[in-house]
This record gives sequence, structure tokens and C-alpha cells, in this order.
Amino acid sequence: MASQLLQGKKGIIFGALDERSIAWKTALAAHEAGAQLVLTNAPIALRMGKINELSKLCGDAPVIPADATSMTDIENLLQKSMETFGGKIDFMLHSIGMSPNVRKNIEYTGTNYDNFHKTLDISALSLHRILQSAMNLDALNEWASVVALSYIAAQRTFPGYNDMADAKALLESITRSFGYYYGFKKKVRVNTISQSPTVTTAGSGVSGFDVFLSYAEKMSPLGNASAEDCANFCVTMFSDYTRMITMQNLFHDGGFSMTGVSQAIVEDEQKLASGV
Ligand SMILES: NC(=O)c1ccc[n+]([C@@H]2O[C@H](COP(=O)([O-])OP(=O)(O)OC[C@H]3O[C@@H](n4cnc5c(N)ncnc54)[C@H](O)[C@@H]3O)[C@@H](O)[C@H]2O)c1
Repeated sequence: MASQLLQGKKGIIFGALDERSIAWKTALAAHEAGAQLVLTNAPIALRMGKINELSKLCGDAPVIPADATSMTDIENLLQKSMETFGGKIDFMLHSIGMSPNVRKNIEYTGTNYDNFHKTLDISALSLHRILQSAMNLDALNEWASVVALSYIAAQRTFPGYNDMADAKALLESITRSFGYYYGFKKKVRVNTISQSPTVTTAGSGVSGFDVFLSYAEKMSPLGNASAEDCANFCVTMFSDYTRMITMQNLFHDGGFSMTGVSQAIVEDEQKLASGV
């Protein structure tokens, strides 16, 4: 994306772990579009990941650790970001997801509730915390844009996606609810992008992920949306060209969500039935 769509804008990107991360690609695309960035992730992810590499690629963007479940960390992040930028923030990407139940292969029907709480806390309530802290600190400019990443398991059941499905449903609900209040108060917009399955650390942790990926590819008229395409869509959502969109869940999935069945899936089934 060569245009300077985000020239003069300042934003925080949460969740770039490595070069496969959707947040990593979004940081690169936002930097290329002219934005000034602060990068953040959980302290443990900063130690294990490669964020300093990304920082160099984004004009030595400062890296500020923040566990998204800690109000203190988030407030510190927002305050330091405003000091760095010399002013308020224009956009934020929430690209955070983790389920201990998924990690430990604990099935949905036999869930561990401590883990379940952590899933909701990290993957959904974190958005509420970020928005509440931003509102308390008056950290966002008018017409600022906040985007969080979701998945269609919020609307339809995908076995193996486990309690992340409930976390995504909550994330989308917080987007609508907080988007209402922040819109009236400060014209801040809040949206989720519901992305195709994408090969990343978080994505690949879901059981049966490779099948999700190939099934979605066959079901989607445009094919699966790549992480790069998602990054470009995020840049568009951060820009002034989308300033009247808020409280929405926007499908970025090559048409998957609107397709009942595709010819490719029908043919697969026919082959199975005929034993070929
Ligand atoms: N990969 C997919 O198939 C897919 C599809 C739709 C939506 N998404 C969503 O996109 C987002 C980004 O995931 P990704 O696929 O790029 O994978 P990823 O593993 O690269 O990113 C997940 C990030 O969450 C961060 N994180 C976890 N716990 C945290 C905490 N306590 N505090 C702060 N950060 C924390 C991780 O460090 C990591 O950087 C997630 O919300 C994910 O659910 C992914």
C-alpha cells in the first residue's frame, strides 16, 4: 500500500509476536501508510518474540510492554505513548487472543473454569480495559479508530475453537456497547474485523486448524483473506475514509460468511460418495 493514508496519525499496535502475526503485518502497513507507531505486547511475549526487529522496520517505533489483563500496564502504556507522540492517539489495533483451554487441549464440554476466565480476560475483557483506560485518560483524539480482530466462531460453531468462540462473541459485544458510549462522548469509533483463518501462532494452536483453513478456502468465492489483506483493511479502518463506521463486525473473509455451500465442497462430497 503505497498511499500515505495515515500521514500524521499516531497509533498503538497490540499483539505483534512474530512476522506471521496479523499485528506485525498491520504495523508494517500502517508505517508504510505514514503513521507513527508504538508497539506493545505482554512482557513474556516481548522476551520470546521478535518485536525489536519489527520496531526497526517501523522507524524505531518504541516498544512498551503491557499485559492486556493489567489496568496498571495499560494506563502506563497509554501515558507513555502520549508522551512519545507529544499528543493523543488516533488509532489502536487490539490483536490479542489466548485460551489456556485450547493450549492444554481441554475440551469445551469439560472446560476448566479458571482457564475459561483467563480466556475471556485476555481475549475480550482486555478490549474493555483498553477502552476504559483510554476514556479515563482522555487518550484518544476525536474520530480515533479502534479495531479488534474477531472470528466467525462468534456467530457459528466451529468444533475445536473452544472457549475462544465465547471470547469472540464477548469481544464483538463489547465493541458495540463501548462503541455506543465512546461515539456519543468523543466520536471515537470501535469495530471488529472478522478475519479468515490465517496461519499464525494463535491460529495454528486451534485443533483441526489446517482443515478450517482448506475448508474456508474452498467455501470462499475470493479464497481466504491473507494477513497482508487484513493489514490493509485495518489501515483503511484507521483512516478518515471510514470515519462513519462504528460498532460493526466487518467480515473480511472472501465471502465465506455469506456462502451456504460451494461447488468445490459439493464435488468433494460427490467424490467421497462415489468412492473415487
Ligand atoms: N489466525 C487466525 O486464524 C485468526 C482468525 C481470526 C481472528 N484472529 C485473531 O487475530 C488476533 C491476532 O492473532 P494472530 O492470529 O495474529 O496470532 P498471534 O499469536 O501472532 O497473536 C496473538 C497475540 O496475543 C498476544 N497476547 C496473548 N496474551 C496476551 C496478554 N495477556 N497481553 C497482551 N498480549 C497478549 C500474544 O503475545 C500475541 O502477540 C487474535 O485476536 C486472534 O484471535 C486470528
